[in-house]
Amino acid sequence: MARRKLVYEGKAKILYEGPEPGTLVQYFKDDATAFNAEKKDVIDGKGVLNNRLSEFFMTGLQRIGVPTHFIKRLNMREQLIRQVEIVPLEVIVRNFAAGTMAQRLGLEEGTALPRPIVEFSYKDDSLGDPLVPEEYIIAFGWATQQDLDDIVALALRVNDFMAGVMHGVGIKLVDFKIEVGRVWENDFMRLIVADEISPDSCRLWDIETDRKLDKDVFRRDLGDLNDAYTEVARRLGVLPKSGQPITKPTLIN
Ligand code: CDP
Repeated sequence: MARRKLVYEGKAKILYEGPEPGTLVQYFKDDATAFNAEKKDVIDGKGVLNNRLSEFFMTGLQRIGVPTHFIKRLNMREQLIRQVEIVPLEVIVRNFAAGTMAQRLGLEEGTALPRPIVEFSYKDDSLGDPLVPEEYIIAFGWATQQDLDDIVALALRVNDFMAGVMHGVGIKLVDFKIEVGRVWENDFMRLIVADEISPDSCRLWDIETDRKLDKDVFRRDLGDLNDAYTEVARRLGVLPKSGQPITKPTLIN
């Protein structure tokens, strides 16, 4: 079998050329990185869980009319996606203060924000993805004002959906990051949700106990990352409640 053409390798995922023009295959690795890849590890089975969880969130979003790049899951670690032109921004939505926002403003983590806050970082690992104001984004031509209005609207719809789904299984959506891509349909450009939505890119706290069920478990050495992600997957019905180890292929299909 001919080797597929690698299009891009990132920290947690690899993109290969897809079977049709305009498609890609997104492969989820087991690699975990934090603090701009200063902290690294391989967590067996993480890619399998994130592939499933991202499929779950993206298909749910599509069902309520939010466009995403997801086409279908191909196997345990791969999904077919639409090729997009990634907008070079990390779009962060926050419902409660945590992480860099809590540090920057001296807020206690978990403080409820007066309303969801959307912020943007410029996607550049060598710079550590710096926070940027809209003014910079427009001036440097990374997106137009119209794009930003559309991106904020998209991000808030994702927030409402994710917060509701998570609340339904006893999890608080503290914050999350999405990436947005451009697709052209005839002469029209549309912005759609791209990349992944998984516990790697969200902060998820148990509503009762504030137990962390996201990548902070890895960043802050709070225990077993797979246990946390498996708990999220089980609560959402993405893995059977009875649960065997998630690395067993039979469970995932
Ligand atoms: O995660 P960190 O404290 O470095 O930054 P943050 O700005 O507080 O992150 C806000 C949310 O975006 C968290 O849920 C992060 O997991 C997510 N994020 C991400 O997925 N990728 C990044 N490069 C930066 C943030």
